[in-house]
Amino acid sequence: MTNPHFNTTTNTNFKFETKIIQISDMKNISDQLKEAVELLQSNELVAFPTETVYGLGANAFEENAVKKIFQAKGRPADNPIIVHVSSYEMFQEVTAVKHNKEEIKRLQECFWPGPLTLIVQKSDKVPYVTTGELETVAVRMPVHPMALALIKESNLPIAAPSANISGKPSPTTALDVFEDMQGKISLILDGGMCEIGLESTVLDMSDPTRKPIILRPGKVTKQQIERCLGKEIDILNVADVTENKTPIKARSPGMKYRHYAPKADVILTRSIGEFLASYNDSKLKYQAIGLIYDAKYGTTVVENGIKVPEELTYTYQTIEQFGSNLYFKLRELDNKRVSLIIIQFSDSDGFGEAILNRLQKASSKK
Ligand code: TXA
Ligand code: MG
Repeated sequence: MTNPHFNTTTNTNFKFETKIIQISDMKNISDQLKEAVELLQSNELVAFPTETVYGLGANAFEENAVKKIFQAKGRPADNPIIVHVSSYEMFQEVTAVKHNKEEIKRLQECFWPGPLTLIVQKSDKVPYVTTGELETVAVRMPVHPMALALIKESNLPIAAPSANISGKPSPTTALDVFEDMQGKISLILDGGMCEIGLESTVLDMSDPTRKPIILRPGKVTKQQIERCLGKEIDILNVADVTENKTPIKARSPGMKYRHYAPKADVILTRSIGEFLASYNDSKLKYQAIGLIYDAKYGTTVVENGIKVPEELTYTYQTIEQFGSNLYFKLRELDNKRVSLIIIQFSDSDGFGEAILNRLQKASSKK
């Protein structure tokens, strides 16, 4: 079904009419996925839901298919793409694991299918376009039933980055994908809003000479991985990467790019009351400002300084809720044309670490 709210484009600059197919349940899923499967098997792109964010998928084995992802997103060619699999056989097919075999198996038992991406040695079948010229490949088995079914039905490992234009917040609804990919791809599968809302945890298992290291925190936390492996692991420090101080830069090319950023400037603060009270800059009075903060502060925060209309304010109750709505809210505030978004967040434990990571990147200088 074509989405009735959008006129699929007739603009001749656009190559494709972008169709959205709503999939509301798993009944007759093969029939519902038929068109998507045909596109993937003929090396075209399909956007699809996962439990984290929407992915922009292509046949991971085909250079020409994967190249289209880079074009559609405007993604730098040295930024490698995660390969999504639906079975352990498929994992074997895309990887050539030489060391840490036991640990990798253990991690898969603990967290797959789910939001953990493992970086290991790639097999010869995976082209360098997919891995950004690296010898390693990032692989994950999503738990979202539609994502799993799509991989199974097409019988292909699916290379899929988040389905946004490079640098923008990842899409968590089909309409967010449409906003970025309209005219650039022919099909978006709509599976509703993504549950987690932030991208998967990326864990580098490729270097046997050092501890496993989290290159990107996500829903699967450092503590959970340590419990699963029964040993300590490392986590990459964002500040080191943004300041180009770390040798990891070469290991994870994607980390050096500014990510997750709305058009508006983002200011991150631990205490919004204090921030507004101390921020006397007259500029604040004249800009459209969006506010995101913990609901426990009630409405008193705005009384300290400026008044922000209710429709530009979002309060969250739990970090899970915040995580799943963050990108959606950033995009919404951009569409309402605010020029500044002030976000209060201070919880750096567990999943809070992943949220803080995205907020630090969103608020870092362009
Ligand atoms: O939740 C997710 O992971 C989503 C959904 C669609 O699965 N995908 C996603 O992909 O976030 P993407 O491309 O937006 O982010 C992948 C990250 C990038 O930062 C990339 O640099 C890193 O993983 N990456 C991929 N392959 C790598 C490799 N071989 N070595 C180091 N980093 C790698
Ligand atoms: Mg991305």
